[in-house]
Amino acid sequence: MAKGGGPLFECTACGQRSSKWVGRCPACGGWNTFEEVPQHARTLGSSRGGGAIPLTAAELADAPRWPVGIAGLDRVLGGGLVGGSAILLAGEPGVGKSTLLLQVAARLAPVGPVLYVSAEESARQVAMRAHRLEVVHDGVLLLAEPGVESALAAAASAKPAAIIADSVQTMYSERVPAVPGSVTQVREVASHLVEYAKRQGPPVILVGHVTKEGLVAGPKSLEHLVDVVLEFGGSSTHPHRTLRATKNRFGPAMELALFAMTGRGLEEVANPSAALLADRTAGAPGSAVAVVLEGSTPLLVEVQALVARSPYASPRRVAQGVESGRLALLLAVLEKRLGVRLGDRDVFVNVAGGIEIDEPAADLAIAAALLSSLRERPLRSDLALFGEVGLLGEVRGVTRTAERVREAAALGFNTCAVPSKGSFSAGLGATVLVVEDLVQLEKLLFQP
Ligand code: TYD
Ligand code: MG
Repeated sequence: MAKGGGPLFECTACGQRSSKWVGRCPACGGWNTFEEVPQHARTLGSSRGGGAIPLTAAELADAPRWPVGIAGLDRVLGGGLVGGSAILLAGEPGVGKSTLLLQVAARLAPVGPVLYVSAEESARQVAMRAHRLEVVHDGVLLLAEPGVESALAAAASAKPAAIIADSVQTMYSERVPAVPGSVTQVREVASHLVEYAKRQGPPVILVGHVTKEGLVAGPKSLEHLVDVVLEFGGSSTHPHRTLRATKNRFGPAMELALFAMTGRGLEEVANPSAALLADRTAGAPGSAVAVVLEGSTPLLVEVQALVARSPYASPRRVAQGVESGRLALLLAVLEKRLGVRLGDRDVFVNVAGGIEIDEPAADLAIAAALLSSLRERPLRSDLALFGEVGLLGEVRGVTRTAERVREAAALGFNTCAVPSKGSFSAGLGATVLVVEDLVQLEKLLFQP
């Protein structure tokens, strides 16, 4: 840290500090990311503890919350919006970010004016959409301009109770010469708005576009600037949309809400497991039901697999909703431990309902779906599975076994294949079958 009043520079990408300016950050490798930290902002670097207080004297009360009134969103946020906080809503173009936030704006408007800065769409386009969604409220103040300075000026006069900035990639600040969408500009825009939130108290929601490849001047570079990162996902071919908090300073992370894009905007899906299983063809080879955990909520999803003889020298492996590396690992373990031949087969795996699962607890169901398709034999229709598969073919324990079994039972799955480890009590509503490895899984699936 800088001594006394000497200059102090900080990397805007990773927070690395230095007493002299450097062109390239030694910590994260970013170019031209160092900026001087003004004297008043050096909270951590100030001498003699400055405004430090004893731990025992720190405020314990929760920050005040402001529920939006969209139950799923409030749950994901941990109870609602927190005053002065900055929220990043990240998602691919077209997923429905503007739609969701227009609905949010109308919900919040009765409490106080909401400033909706639309840098992408004209006021007319936004108004037309609001009419179609029937969320027109005169407490929603629309500013169809890309300049962050105009946004701040509008905020200064309107004193909004919340600000929505759509999007950080299309807004710009006059104070930096960089083009809109560049990392420098995106960060500049975001930091002005975040600072306004911290100083004046309204929550600020920033929209950030993410592309399939990852990021263009990415939301990633903003994650450390904001308090909450919400990821909005889903496929263009399916109406389901998932909303998750991947970072949350004020609540639990990884909580999930499921929405459906309808003709009247986004509607929350009340019973996600039932909705995700609605189109299931029970009794078809290649179909298995997994119980995965989304935040604290167990969710039942159908995993579909198709294993077919390949006409190609190097067979195709296509995974949707499951990480392709995970699929490759499971195929290798199945070959090695069960002696099945997959080298000349095309393999397709899909999670029904257009959702993505990244919990290893889905492994057991993926393996079961693959075996079911390979053998052309359906699984019993009341079976749900969960458990992580290890490299030795062993089935490893996962968290919250009892809650998962209960959710399965509630949806009529009377039999659950579960890992050996974990504690269960009676009265979960389903028969619990312990599976220790893939050999046992195969027996369990296909024994008469
Ligand atoms: P949008 O909110 O513009 O996405 P983003 O801001 O993330 O880019 O949503 C775009 C898609 O949503 C568009 O293809 C049309 C569809 N949509 C509906 O299906 N129903 C609706 O009521 C609305 C407003 C949009
Ligand atoms: Mg949009």
